[in-house]
Amino acid sequence: MTCMIDLQGFTREDIIRDRFGSLDKDSDMEALVSFIGSKSNGMRMNVPMRHAKEYERYKAGEYIFHRRAGPLDFSCATCHSEEGKRIRLQELPNMTDPKQVQIVISTGWPAYRGTQATVRTMQHRLYDCNWQMRLPDLGYASDMSVALTSYLNYRANGGVIQLPGVRR
Ligand code: HEC
Repeated sequence: MTCMIDLQGFTREDIIRDRFGSLDKDSDMEALVSFIGSKSNGMRMNVPMRHAKEYERYKAGEYIFHRRAGPLDFSCATCHSEEGKRIRLQELPNMTDPKQVQIVISTGWPAYRGTQATVRTMQHRLYDCNWQMRLPDLGYASDMSVALTSYLNYRANGGVIQLPGVRR
């Protein structure tokens, strides 16, 4: 997004308006994220976490993951920290287990979602889970989404990347 704004002349509003595709319109951003993600195929996740700001985001993500909030008093951990949980027939990954986080992050997203007829990014997955918690809309590339992705991505280090994934 920074390069698109600083070098290519897009506005932040344009990018955010077209961030998710719909039935009659694809999203360039979803296509771009899938293309760039696939360029790492075969490599291992390797988030360095050397810069103080990276660590700050990671810690914020860890906090948010475990912090209950909203009218239902859910945290991410409510649905994603135990073995054998499911909603209807959907198994919920236990993301306190590094092996399961590796699968979700390095082979999961961006994903072709059968239920949505298009490719979706992690930003969309987080937006959806946030909605399931009945929290206010998760802003695209917002501080909160960057914090959660930093937390999950770092904990997926070592996973072999194979993208895009396929999901329900
Ligand atoms: C009410 C339960 C619930 C809560 C709370 C919840 N999620 Fe989810 N999450 C789901 C469901 C359901 C799925 C989809 C599973 C499927 O369709 O296979 C999912 C999927 C995911 C996935 C993709 C997993 C995969 O295998 O590809 C990620 C990543 C994720 N959630 C992150 C989060 C984060 C981060 C939070 C907190 C902001 C959160 N979730 C809160 C229910 C929840």
